[in-house]
Amino acid sequence: MEKEIHDQPHAVADTLLGRTDEAGRLVLDEVRIPEERLRAVERITVVACGTASYAGMVAKYAIEHWTRIPVEVALAHEFRYCDPIVDENTLVVSISQSGETMDTLMAVKHATDLGAMTLSVCNTHGSTIPRESDAVLYTHAGPEIAVASTKAFLAQITACYVLGLYLAQLRGETYADDAKAVMRELQEIPAKIEDLLGRMDRVQEMAEFMADTRTVLFLGRNVGYPVAMEGALKLKELAYIHAEGFAAGELKHGPIALIEAGQPVFVIVPSPDTPHELHKKVVSNIQEIRARGARTLVIAHDGDDDVEPFASEVIRIPACAPLLAPLLAVVPLQVFALHLATAKGLDVDQPRNLAKSVTVE
Ligand code: M6R
Repeated sequence: MEKEIHDQPHAVADTLLGRTDEAGRLVLDEVRIPEERLRAVERITVVACGTASYAGMVAKYAIEHWTRIPVEVALAHEFRYCDPIVDENTLVVSISQSGETMDTLMAVKHATDLGAMTLSVCNTHGSTIPRESDAVLYTHAGPEIAVASTKAFLAQITACYVLGLYLAQLRGETYADDAKAVMRELQEIPAKIEDLLGRMDRVQEMAEFMADTRTVLFLGRNVGYPVAMEGALKLKELAYIHAEGFAAGELKHGPIALIEAGQPVFVIVPSPDTPHELHKKVVSNIQEIRARGARTLVIAHDGDDDVEPFASEVIRIPACAPLLAPLLAVVPLQVFALHLATAKGLDVDQPRNLAKSVTVE
């Protein structure tokens, strides 16, 4: 798993490779055939499980912003049984590292039966889900061996950005320039992950120090919300401790009752460039929980000084465009779970009760 975490700059770079022409326009050869159908897409439903579903949640924020196409994210095992609203103008995007997850495969088959166009974001060539789909966008994370997903997650998010930007470009010139600009920012992300991986000593120390912790909470907003969910899942899977991720705005609607002295809470702070005062609101969430005695473990961009007064610890990530931040913000959470589990003497590559691909429903 440690190796896979360190493979992440390559996973992102390789997933971006060859996606643009000399003029900076996106070219997706794999999805060219159903281009006419893609132009007619009126809604998108993402189907996936576990970590892949969190990549889908990130995709929702990004694709809706760039294309104005409504995107819904459904857990694949729920999708089949909820009488989904899907027709020939719906694009059903499945996300799966293995391409063999039975729940996701069944959702894809169901979508096909309902007349939808299906596109698979997948890391495994020749696997079943891409074969059952109309089009496939391969992620190039390389083989992921550790049971807990890390580099595949980053590659899935990257592929979803590429898909969103491609759809934006297909839908008209107004968005095309934006798409080029975002692609340029995306190209800078691998070097930023590399830089970030070089700063993880303090995160390791924190994890080792917290080896006896019984429960950890994770808060995030907007694209930081799925990052919070993923941070919690990594800790459950690897360290077998109770962890919960939730949308920071929900705090006062219930979860704040959990806050007591010493409770560790990771907070994923959006970029100060995020619109609608989101940044300010998250900073005031940190202030609220700190006032109630929480140990605030704050993930913030370089240069964001507003968080300092209320943070027990600040974990810095390189500055980047707000929608791209999950590719950086999740890295310290992966490293934290890895080292906490290791400090407990657990096998991080083969956690108990889990299989790398879940081929039964
Ligand atoms: O192979 P898939 O991406 O379809 O797998 C989906 C989930 O089973 C998977 O992401 C699972 O949640 C991982 N153990 C997460 O670390």
